[in-house]
Amino acid sequence: MKIQEDQRFAGLKPFEKKLWLATPTMHGEEQKWVDDAIRTNWVSTVGANINEVEAQIAAYVGVKYAVALSAGTAALHLATKLAGEKLYGQARPNQGTLQGHRVFCSDLTFDASINPVAYEDGEAVFIDTERDTWNMCPDALEKAFEIYPEVRLIVLAHLYGTPGKMERIREIAQRHGALIVEDAAESLGAKYLLDGKWVETGALGDYNCISFNGNKIITGSSGGMFLTDSREDAEKVRKWSTQSREAAPWYQHEEVGYNYRMSNIIAGVVRGQIPHLDEHIAQKRAIWERYEQGLADLPVKMNPWDREKSVPNFWLSCMIIDEDAMAPQLRGEQDYLYQCEPGKSSPHEILDALAAFNAEGRPIWKPMHMQPIYRTHAFITAEGNGRGRSNAYIAGSGVDIGADLFRRGLCLPSDNKMTAEQQDRVIEIIHRCFR
Ligand SMILES: Cc1ncc(COP(=O)(O)O)c(C=O)c1O
Repeated sequence: MKIQEDQRFAGLKPFEKKLWLATPTMHGEEQKWVDDAIRTNWVSTVGANINEVEAQIAAYVGVKYAVALSAGTAALHLATKLAGEKLYGQARPNQGTLQGHRVFCSDLTFDASINPVAYEDGEAVFIDTERDTWNMCPDALEKAFEIYPEVRLIVLAHLYGTPGKMERIREIAQRHGALIVEDAAESLGAKYLLDGKWVETGALGDYNCISFNGNKIITGSSGGMFLTDSREDAEKVRKWSTQSREAAPWYQHEEVGYNYRMSNIIAGVVRGQIPHLDEHIAQKRAIWERYEQGLADLPVKMNPWDREKSVPNFWLSCMIIDEDAMAPQLRGEQDYLYQCEPGKSSPHEILDALAAFNAEGRPIWKPMHMQPIYRTHAFITAEGNGRGRSNAYIAGSGVDIGADLFRRGLCLPSDNKMTAEQQDRVIEIIHRCFR
């Protein structure tokens, strides 16, 4: 049955203009800085906008150096490569710096977080998720070090703008002599209380990355940054990102290079956005809180965060359906089916209802250990090896928190230009799904 013909939704009108998950919010200054670049002919990967955004973001996050790059993925690639070089030495031009080495990786994240491990010939080992912040589980990480004590690198993301359990993860990393690549692509502006001091995400790892992709809390349309307190690391990343030129009068190369530098035009857009970062965070927080209130009478929870130790940037508002309110839902590799049941619902029923009313939601990231490409990679939970744990004869065997969040969770429309009236209608659509 078509959702519009479903009596549960009678009287509700579709949005005239599509309500998106998260779109860029421009303020006007972006145009000025882009025009400036064009007027002064700094239409290249050098220029005042680049210098300014590097200085401003470094100051905001509280690191000494920022290197502006073409994408968050580029930042993650060079951060991961640099970590590999630090740990295992310089690789030959046709080899990655992580060749023959395992790396512990966030499981519930976008694949851009962890693909750079493969670019550098390393083998990602996926670490299960905890329920308190939906990030890397420290207990599973401890287990992973018991199983693979030789591992020296951790790549972790802060999901949907919520900081993970960094105090414990940093302590575990330190105890095992491991380095951390921090993927703060989704969490710029989120803070974490570390040893009694508030620290921004993007300053919590050994190598830190952010993104200015079009859907992020602030954007350049694209772009990213590598953040560090090490001048040597910043200089190395800057060199690699500009084709690894040496100081000869001709193009001389000692190392493999990349064309990963940010353009001065893109930097103009970012420059216009930075003054509005805190305002965007406040808008996103208001959206999250409005959902929390509006959905409080349903058998669902919002994406959780540690209220004592963190302040998220609330990039995306998400919800998870209580187990006993989950209607049947099945997923194949590229398709899905669900059944409607009174008093219950499922992520796909809600996503379809939102789509029918011209609003965009999204499933939670599909965990990396469930992705066909990484099916043969190890997956570690708080109980140990997460592969092959289920057993026909033992009910409830096989912990897999990431899979559970993926099954029961979804991302809600979180655009910071959404009006209260529009959000109320989204909340009403979700209520009707549970009728
Ligand atoms: C967690 C995470 N890591 C990395 C990226 C990659 O950033 P970019 O799109 O700037 O390459 C994104 C978003 O796109 C992301 O959400």
